[in-house]
Amino acid sequence: MDRILVTGGTGYIGSHTVVELQQSGFEVIIVDNLVNSNVDVLCGIEKITGVRPIFENVDCTEYVNLDRTIEKYPGIKAIIHFAALKAVGESVSHPLEYYRNNLVSLINLLELMPKHKIENIVFSSSCTVYGQPDVLPVTEDAPIKKALSPYGNTKKIAEDIITDTINANHALSAILLRYFNPIGAHPSAEIGELPNGVPNNLLPYITQTAIGLRSELKVFGNDYNTPDGSCIRDYINVVDLAKAHVIAVQRMLQKKQKSDVEIFNLGTGRGLSVLELLDIFQKVNKVKVPYKIVGRREGDIEQVWANPARANKELGWKAQSSVEDTLKSAWKWELKLKERREK
Ligand code: NAD
Ligand code: UD1
Repeated sequence: MDRILVTGGTGYIGSHTVVELQQSGFEVIIVDNLVNSNVDVLCGIEKITGVRPIFENVDCTEYVNLDRTIEKYPGIKAIIHFAALKAVGESVSHPLEYYRNNLVSLINLLELMPKHKIENIVFSSSCTVYGQPDVLPVTEDAPIKKALSPYGNTKKIAEDIITDTINANHALSAILLRYFNPIGAHPSAEIGELPNGVPNNLLPYITQTAIGLRSELKVFGNDYNTPDGSCIRDYINVVDLAKAHVIAVQRMLQKKQKSDVEIFNLGTGRGLSVLELLDIFQKVNKVKVPYKIVGRREGDIEQVWANPARANKELGWKAQSSVEDTLKSAWKWELKLKERREK
């Protein structure tokens, strides 16, 4: 059984990826310091897969602890590096926390890879590196724009750090996955997104408003140059996204990469506006979401959606879930959280 180290594996995308890895026959070691996740997620993963992944409560910025942990599990074949802080607004007020956490974690891992003879790393990047693209849908060859936040900048810098490291050491290889907007939950509702405090992202805000935790959704702007005036994004189902990581790991282990560093957009190829997403959510789940239009949110991109052709062709991966099913899974998860709160 091939061993995979998953940093940030108790987080939202990480936990869904651990499920897919285990269901594909990999042995998973999770390293997470629980700064933005809960250890109970392991029970959810176990319920779905029948296997409780190995879990190490370690901060990836702590080199010595990380080194010792990796030492404990010889023969790791690849790292999937999710661990990062991701709140855009917080990164503006606490930039050094973001640069330290996100970049030191990555540098530690890259330094430890040759030491422990780990050759492969998959990195969680973001479509945020494209800023507002000049051409839509955006391809991987689009120019990288100046980041709008320290968080976004950590993704750009991390991509550069990985590329420079691999250019200097061809024994290593990387796949950089640029996620568009991941949403939804596992269809079992055993795992899902657990936002800390007031959600920043759209879908958790919608589900929390629908369940009564928030009084109304604020739609940030209806005066954009889009058909209904609200912003457009490419919302990608989190399980579909998770599956792409398994394929990326298999590609590396089977040495199918075309270059030492490969980059893939992970999106559906379809753009949806805020108002469209809200409308579909209400229809498929038969719930009302009170909302009002307010001013634009600072730093928002008007519209972005993926050209996923490279991932479709090279990885043989395609987003499968309909947005309707994805929005149903998000609501099922919110209902499950309510049930847990009331227990
Ligand atoms: P998340 O916060 O749910 O998961 C991140 C996990 O990393 C958490 O469990 C957290 O406890 C852990 N972590 C953070 N710093 C750590 C450290 N120093 N050491 C050990 N563990 C640490 O976030 P997510 O949505 O699952 O995102 C996963 C990755 O994908 C992140 O790198 C994020 O930047 C990236 N990404 C996310 C999105 C999105 O919309 N969710 C979009 C693009 C990229
Ligand atoms: C945000 C981050 C991006 C990060 C991504 C994933 C910003 C500027 N960008 O992207 O860097 O990679 O999250 O974590 O924060 N919306 C509302 N009301 C809300 C919440 C959101 O109308 O309460 C709108 C936004 O204006 C946007 C859309 O919904 O048009 C999606 O927002 P969000 O889920 O925050 O994702 P992004 O802004 O795409």
